Amino acid sequence: MSDKIDEIIRNHINVQRDSLLPLLQEIQNELGFLSEESINRIGELLKLPTSKIYGVATFYDQFRFEPKGRFHIRICHGTACHIEKSSRIILETERLLKIKQGQTTRDGMFSLEVVNCMGACGLSPVIAVNDKYYPGVQSRDLKEIIDNCIAKPREL
Ligand code: FES
Repeated sequence: MSDKIDEIIRNHINVQRDSLLPLLQEIQNELGFLSEESINRIGELLKLPTSKIYGVATFYDQFRFEPKGRFHIRICHGTACHIEKSSRIILETERLLKIKQGQTTRDGMFSLEVVNCMGACGLSPVIAVNDKYYPGVQSRDLKEIIDNCIAKPREL
């Protein structure tokens, strides 16, 4: 995997401190998250302090620092979903899974991401578990959705 990271970094070898974003995005697309190894390697090859790289990466919500769980839950917090109280859905999911957005449960089963518009505003609020969409979700529905993932992991 480090060979692939090195290859990506070498394609951005002239990157400036203020234009790390495309490099970080490409590595996240490849790995699914920004590993400590990848951050260290960027620092080595581009001669940048890792604190600077973390500083850039943590500024943006889009970056993850842990691998996704077996069930990756995305909750839309775009305007239409926000109006339909997606904040409550985020809080309830965090409570049920005992993680915050951007984190993965210790057993690796679930990870949580809050995203902007998922393109289904007419069905807001919307969440997705892996590729399966759940329109019009209410907080009270979340326990059943999560329990179903645990009970029937092959259906998603
Ligand atoms: S704002 Fe949530 S789907 Fe568009």
